[in-house]
Amino acid sequence: MIELIKSLPKAELHLHIEGTLEPKLMLELAQRNSVEIPYTNIEDIQKAYEFTNLQSFLDIYYAGASVLLKEEDFYSLTWEYILKCVDNNIIHTEIFFDPQTHTKRGVSFYTALTGIKEALNDAKKEFGITSNIIVCFLRHLDQEECFKTLDEAIEYKRDIIGVGLDSSELGNPPSKFKELFNKARKEGFKIVAHAGEEADVSYIQEALDILKVQRVDHGVQAMHSKALMQRLKEEQIPLTVCPNSNIELKVFENYKKHNIKELLDFGLNVTVNSDDPAYFKGYLNQNYINIYENLKLSKEDIVKLVKNSFNSAFIDKALKKEYL
Ligand code: HPA
Ligand code: ZN
Repeated sequence: MIELIKSLPKAELHLHIEGTLEPKLMLELAQRNSVEIPYTNIEDIQKAYEFTNLQSFLDIYYAGASVLLKEEDFYSLTWEYILKCVDNNIIHTEIFFDPQTHTKRGVSFYTALTGIKEALNDAKKEFGITSNIIVCFLRHLDQEECFKTLDEAIEYKRDIIGVGLDSSELGNPPSKFKELFNKARKEGFKIVAHAGEEADVSYIQEALDILKVQRVDHGVQAMHSKALMQRLKEEQIPLTVCPNSNIELKVFENYKKHNIKELLDFGLNVTVNSDDPAYFKGYLNQNYINIYENLKLSKEDIVKLVKNSFNSAFIDKALKKEYL
């Protein structure tokens, strides 16, 4: 089964490019760019990756991103992830990037986007890997600030398929960004949002009803509402579940307590993703392997999860058919 997991071509739909920054590259970029970080070696960095919840991770994740300054840094970051895609047999990937993490440090939207985009273009040329870019708004910031980011996304629309919402969930419900997402929808962007990672089902309901999301990122708290589960099933709204992330951020105590198998058995459109693999001990195959080994997944379950990943991707019918 592990060989099957590794050999199946897969799509990844929930991946923060800043979350693929491996300790080695972090140290190299810190040196290259003369950025001070509180670590001198890889072991120090790895020791800092002991999280108690989402916020404890975000504090370290934003600090790590401070080494990314130039277009070539974003290129290196993205190219390293592409090499992991090759290893993991990921043939299509939809990556998030957080412009506000960079613009607040004086690194332009254009610089980050161009570095990422160039690497993705090369990935297509070199390996045939297809991709989409999704811009995420940081929900701990106010809506007004996010409008500036949306305006930049509109400027580079031909390179951006959609917009999402990430960062500190608790206390920052989707309804805070109603007007922002109304505008994004009118501009023709696909819409996703992190919801129901740590916060309750009302955040998932708001993401659906107010932001009108086409996919829910995480969404694992849906199990606390029978009515919501029924709706997600009927409408087949994709959930981009991230098992390693949920364990590392203590959403579930351990893999045996993860609910992905229950969600799948109920008939929800569930996918498997790696979220921030450099921080959460493993890329996509490791996420599949961890749930397979702990939750008695069958071969049919694995194949269904993989098929769901292509069916839920923002790709046209012809490409979907080719991949399925
Ligand atoms: N949740 C919220 N924000 C994030 C995450 C996540 O899992 N990863 C990177 N930013
Ligand atoms: Zn995420």
